[in-house]
Amino acid sequence: MIERLVFDGPVILGAGLAGLSAALAAVEGAAKTALVLSPTPLATGCSSAWAQGGMAAALAGDDTPALHAADTIAAGAGLCDPQAVALLTEEGPQAVRDLAALGAPFDRQADGGFVLSLEAAHAKARVARVGGDGAGAAIMAAVVAAVRAAPTIQVRENARARRLLQDATGRVVGVLAQIDGALVEIRSTAVILATGGIGGLYAVTTTPAQVRGEGLGLAALAGATIADPEFVQFHPTAIDIGRDPAPLATEALRGEGAILRNADARAFMADYHPAKELAPRDVVARAIHAEREAGRCAFLDATQAVGGHFPKEFPAVFEACIAGGIDPRRAMIPVVPAVHYHMGGVAADLDGRASLPGLYAAGECASTGVQGANRLASNSLLEAAVFGARAGHAAATEGLHGGEPVSLEPLPDLPDAALQTLRKAMSRDAGVIRDAAGLTRLLDQIRALEPTAPTVVAARLIVEAALARQESRGGHYRADFPATAQPVRTFVTLTSADAAVRYAAE
Ligand code: SIN
Repeated sequence: MIERLVFDGPVILGAGLAGLSAALAAVEGAAKTALVLSPTPLATGCSSAWAQGGMAAALAGDDTPALHAADTIAAGAGLCDPQAVALLTEEGPQAVRDLAALGAPFDRQADGGFVLSLEAAHAKARVARVGGDGAGAAIMAAVVAAVRAAPTIQVRENARARRLLQDATGRVVGVLAQIDGALVEIRSTAVILATGGIGGLYAVTTTPAQVRGEGLGLAALAGATIADPEFVQFHPTAIDIGRDPAPLATEALRGEGAILRNADARAFMADYHPAKELAPRDVVARAIHAEREAGRCAFLDATQAVGGHFPKEFPAVFEACIAGGIDPRRAMIPVVPAVHYHMGGVAADLDGRASLPGLYAAGECASTGVQGANRLASNSLLEAAVFGARAGHAAATEGLHGGEPVSLEPLPDLPDAALQTLRKAMSRDAGVIRDAAGLTRLLDQIRALEPTAPTVVAARLIVEAALARQESRGGHYRADFPATAQPVRTFVTLTSADAAVRYAAE
């Protein structure tokens, strides 16, 4: 017998910055209450809490939202939605100030202004940071405190979605959740997906391993339209010390002047791009991949640029290196590209509305078109805050309606052994460099897995779209199609377990 709860407000799946921003906005808006389901204790297990970079926003006197938008669109390699980008960059400064007002302790100058750092592909120093590399953890601590203090927000930890509940019309009317091991049918006014990205589908990732495309798969299986799933961002400099997930060496180190060298101590980035260490993230990732493939290894040398300031300025990176037996004040840091962010996701409008009534998506699991084919550094926390709040406001206006759910059957999980095999195969064949032979082999492997497990569906969507996109653009590089074709986004809806990827021009 499944327990049944009727909840007069939105249910939010996921408790990173997007999910908690949605919850706060929903109850500040029209919702009587909001329920957050988190698979892990709050502020753990979400990529937001691990973010080192900070939040990009036009906060400096010589910066403007239009300049920030231009950089975002340039990084997005032809696939950004300009309206979504304008909204993100215009609302950005206020979003940072709002988080500061909630208690996020952004680094400040003597006059109270934000300390702003430069990161790759930004024309201005515009990344607001906390304690050097601690932005994600500090911002999440402030937001979690606000959520805990909000009497109308309920939080259930150790809770994950096993199916989106739909009535006979296809409307999403709630979620089948597993809470402390027991299945619970939760009827709600709306469901907001804020489940994060897909890093855990890959063997080498900087994201929490349990973030593995479940929200994407659940939404696709319910019939929601998915956008641009092939676009996966590889961070160039994960620390290669055999840890899973791999700790990050923030791009800000390169902003401070750290240099990429190979095993011969040769600075190699000039061979690949005139902007060298500050080239676009996909270019740097491919350069490091090429050096490693050629057997030359790749290291980040911050001994001169940061040196003795490491413990104070980059405490998280310093701690990870020391734990791995490397003192980055004196030695080069071995680095490897790792999955860091998913530009694709559940297709959502500017208020987070997905293609199914009653369903919303925000943050990394959504695709509003704001990140294009390649996300600009430090735009992800910003997107989570801005679009999470917008989704919360919009979902708050929904009432309790819709019919009875047509199925209460939990969707299957992928057994761990199969998941670990899949992760290795995804890193090998759907990684920094892709080609038809590898993607086809990978697709055959995925087709042999449980077809309705949400993680399997997420992997299949990424790989099918990567195979279908016969060009190279942003985070998607095809060795067999290195040129860039016309800019066309991918939109796909599963009409059956074997639906093919369809392309549609914007
Ligand atoms: C980093 O600190 O390098 C990551 C920032 C980001 O991915 O936005």
